[in-house]
Amino acid sequence: MKPIKLGVLISGGGSNLQAIIDGIESGRLSAEIAVVISNEPDAYGLARARNHGLNQVVVSHRDFADRAGFEARLTEVLKVHGVELVVLAGFMRVLTKVFLRAFPERVINIHPALLPSFPGSHVWQQEVEYGVKFAGCTVHFVDEGVDSGPIIIQAVVPVLDDDDAASLAARILRQEHRIYPQAIQLLAEERLRIEGRRVKVLPLDHALEEAALINPPLA
Ligand code: GRF
Repeated sequence: MKPIKLGVLISGGGSNLQAIIDGIESGRLSAEIAVVISNEPDAYGLARARNHGLNQVVVSHRDFADRAGFEARLTEVLKVHGVELVVLAGFMRVLTKVFLRAFPERVINIHPALLPSFPGSHVWQQEVEYGVKFAGCTVHFVDEGVDSGPIIIQAVVPVLDDDDAASLAARILRQEHRIYPQAIQLLAEERLRIEGRRVKVLPLDHALEEAALINPPLA
């Protein structure tokens, strides 16, 4: 399988970027990071990219008079690097339909909540205050709304009695690092079909060939 070419957009620490890098380097993820773009010049994720010899570019939204100019530059950098899938990994800017049209059904995002509950930012504090018993994270296609596109994969974690926003965020983040590489792998394998709001996952041909139910289960 030809590795899918990723453009990873970050604004901060880049731990999800790191999970993707680790997935690629371990051979679990059939992808190649063509470029990492940060809108924040001091984002630690840029150092992670540097440590792994990846192309990295800063495109600061502050250098542009409007969103259109910012997005045109992002698009240019992504296209120059041959990007096939745009991966938002803690990227803190909302993208407009002009940008999305340049990469139809090829922009994905990770959100640290079980959408459609708790879209937007500062979700962990809201979850603790609301008193939900479960929280989680969601990888979804990006559409013109905020955190509203079709859902690819989710993970659920419990909210514990002594949780605060920080401890809950840490528990969720560990699952983000598992589901984001998995979502990208499904796209690399061209196994996702968007049908309205639903994203269906096609089975692997060889998975069917090897399918078996073993009873009693293997140790
Ligand atoms: C993650 O919780 C992500 O879901 C959210 O921002 C955080 C960024 O984490 N959008 P990192 O920069 O990948 O470490």
